[in-house]
Amino acid sequence: MVFAKIVETEKELQDAFFVRKEVFVKEQGIPLPLEIDEYDEIATHFVAYFENRPIAAGRVRFIEDLTATVDRVCVLPPFRRKQIGVLMMKSLEQYIKGSNIKKVKIKAQTHAIPFYEKQNYYITSPEFLDAGIPHRAMEKVFDS
Ligand SMILES: CC(C)(COP(=O)(O)OP(=O)(O)OC[C@H]1O[C@@H](n2cnc3c(N)ncnc32)[C@H](O)[C@@H]1OP(=O)(O)O)[C@@H](O)C(=O)NCCC(=O)NCCS
Repeated sequence: MVFAKIVETEKELQDAFFVRKEVFVKEQGIPLPLEIDEYDEIATHFVAYFENRPIAAGRVRFIEDLTATVDRVCVLPPFRRKQIGVLMMKSLEQYIKGSNIKKVKIKAQTHAIPFYEKQNYYITSPEFLDAGIPHRAMEKVFDS
């Protein structure tokens, strides 16, 4: 069974970093100092496990009044297209909704736009490069 949880221990944080390094550093070639950044100290992290192995991660930050940002959402390649990305987003959004937040902003890698659109995020910017990878800004507003 796959389950996602908020990171509460140093081991769980290292598990989340493990998945992020596998996906963003090894698979996508993003330099480690860009991937593990200063926001990790203030973000709330999430990790998902399958049979005690970390397989997915993501993080949330509250950036301004009533707005949060979600980033670093990732699933290890063998576990993709099994609704685990959706599980991560639902876990992150459930946490955000508990904080009276009305809007979530993301910077979506262009290839992942259909994934976010299926979860009711909409595009708010033209394409731009971040760490050399094409992105577009997206948002989702929660019903009050
Ligand atoms: C993007 C990512 C998190 C999606 O995770 P996932 O577990 O494969 O996604 P899910 O299985 O939950 O997919 C949910 C829906 O989105 C669709 N989807 C997922 N990735 C997609 C893609 N790249 N292109 C088109 N549709 C996609 C799925 O087909 C599924 O549709 P359905 O509900 O109609 O069946 C995963 O591909 C990943 O880790 N990619 C590398 C890291 C990355 O780029 N992260 C995004 C940074 S912005």
